[in-house]
Amino acid sequence: MKIFAIESSCDETAAAIVENGRKIISSTVATQIEEHRLYGGVVPEIASRRHCESISQIVDMCFKEANLTFNDIDAIGVTFAPGLIGSLLVGVNYAKGLSFALKKPLIAVHHLRSHIASNYLTHQELKPPFLALIISGGHSHLVNVKDYCTFEVVGRTRDDAVGEAFDKAARALGYPYPGGIEIDKSAKLGNENAFDFPRPKVEGSTLDFSFSGLKTAVLNLLNNSSQKSIPINKNDLCASFQLAVCDIIAQRVVLAAKKLNQNKIVIAGGVSANSAIRKRLQAESKKNGFSLFLPEISLCGDNAAMVASQAYYEFQNENSADMSLNAVASLSIDY
Ligand code: KG4
Ligand code: ZN
Repeated sequence: MKIFAIESSCDETAAAIVENGRKIISSTVATQIEEHRLYGGVVPEIASRRHCESISQIVDMCFKEANLTFNDIDAIGVTFAPGLIGSLLVGVNYAKGLSFALKKPLIAVHHLRSHIASNYLTHQELKPPFLALIISGGHSHLVNVKDYCTFEVVGRTRDDAVGEAFDKAARALGYPYPGGIEIDKSAKLGNENAFDFPRPKVEGSTLDFSFSGLKTAVLNLLNNSSQKSIPINKNDLCASFQLAVCDIIAQRVVLAAKKLNQNKIVIAGGVSANSAIRKRLQAESKKNGFSLFLPEISLCGDNAAMVASQAYYEFQNENSADMSLNAVASLSIDY
């Protein structure tokens, strides 16, 4: 079964065709990062306009790359939630139009479910159940994935998402948006023990995350040192910040795996590209006897191949949508 899918939840317009949820036939992504960089973050109005302008070309490119036509696909998948509402609407309306015109099934896909599915494309043998850690620009979740379409959130951030903490810390350091990758690069040259940043815990909720205290500690350190004209080694700061993030994440992942008695761990989302987090979770997995699954770097960020993959399993589960489908800005993965 060949599924064509569209992703437009944030600042990437993407289209892909995937066979049986596992084999990428083609995948195209147009990023708007350069334009949003001017403003230090995603400007929702601009994002939806650019999606409108580029979606037809991206879809054409995707079919051209696959050497297929509309008649060759069996169904249409689309990200409908969560995300920027104006951005989501562009993809949802395009997919609805295509489904109506081609008389082919429409499948609504949750963005975080699709991030998990990026691992089905990377690891052909991977099957639920497993524990998933989703770390992206807008989300930090620990999810008990019971089956392809059955999820239970066991931990979540109470404030900032981890990617948000990376991006805000990077912005304060003067790095361009999105700052996660800049911190990753800079940290490689620094001493991770130079600064002792907090590892905040959420009282009474051992699997929840809190990143705003860590972010504020970085901002306070930078403000104080600038007021007192004390130079700060940015590489040391990035390395110490990243170590704190790794400690916070690793502690929750190990605890959740033990609580759920689950030794299969899957990581997903834009921040899963972080080299220190990948290394740390590999080391923890070795120590604790877990099997760790990480997405290929090219599939960590937003793309439509992961949407087409999850759409396949949603379809198998009889989760198809109709012309009443609407975009939803905020929706839990276990909806
Ligand atoms: O999943 P994603 O592409 O978009 C959302 O659904 O949010 O994630 C984007 C986030 C941004 O915060 C970006 O800074 C972060 O992923 N990111 C990284 C790295 N690459 C991307 N954070 C840390 N280290 C990286 N190497
Ligand atoms: Zn994402």
